[in-house]
Amino acid sequence: MKVSYHGHSVVQVKTANKNIIIDPFISGNGATDLKVDELQVDVILLTHGHNDHVGDTVELAKQNDALVVAPFELATYLGWQGVTVHPMHIGGSHTFEFGTVKLTQAFHGSSYEVEEEQQIIYTGMPSGILFSNEGKTIFHAGDTALFSDMKIIGERHPIDVAFLPIGDNFTMGPEDAALAAKWLQAKQVVPIHYNTFPVIEQDPTEFVRLLNANQGVVLKAGEHIDL
Ligand code: NI
Ligand code: MN
Repeated sequence: MKVSYHGHSVVQVKTANKNIIIDPFISGNGATDLKVDELQVDVILLTHGHNDHVGDTVELAKQNDALVVAPFELATYLGWQGVTVHPMHIGGSHTFEFGTVKLTQAFHGSSYEVEEEQQIIYTGMPSGILFSNEGKTIFHAGDTALFSDMKIIGERHPIDVAFLPIGDNFTMGPEDAALAAKWLQAKQVVPIHYNTFPVIEQDPTEFVRLLNANQGVVLKAGEHIDL
């Protein structure tokens, strides 16, 4: 399994035969190396409804005939836009042909802004994603505050790589994320959700210094880890 980071919260997972992308915010994402019209994906996994996570989901799903897996209310909303969806909810797991997805809780909001209509559409609860395939597990925390049930997630699911937000302001900052890394007992930790906008500027190498030796890995957009 090849796991790559593409700026903000965009994570791509390539299994032996499937291309999976998490939170494909590409248009308007100054931190990404991806281009919507060149991206080939089979599956889109979404943590929550915020525009910097849903991103180009509808266009990508239509262009690739990709399946969108998201929390129920968000999946329902996106289904109405004409994409194929599989709704799930927090605590539930499902084994697909491309791997097993389990949604975990996240302390955050979940809504989609329709800017031209000045409307906020609420899209249920935000989530984190545990994805397992080929004997490996990755955890994408989504946008979240630190919460102590991360200890339970870590005890119940041996995590090979955790993608944790460190940007502060909207999510955990570096110190809380370092505690999350400890509680999750993740073998490797990749910081995400920083430096996309001025308000979430952070030094990822400072964050890595707060972790156990060799636990933290700073990935630039386009870099990957082989699992
Ligand atoms: Ni968010
Ligand atoms: Mn966000």
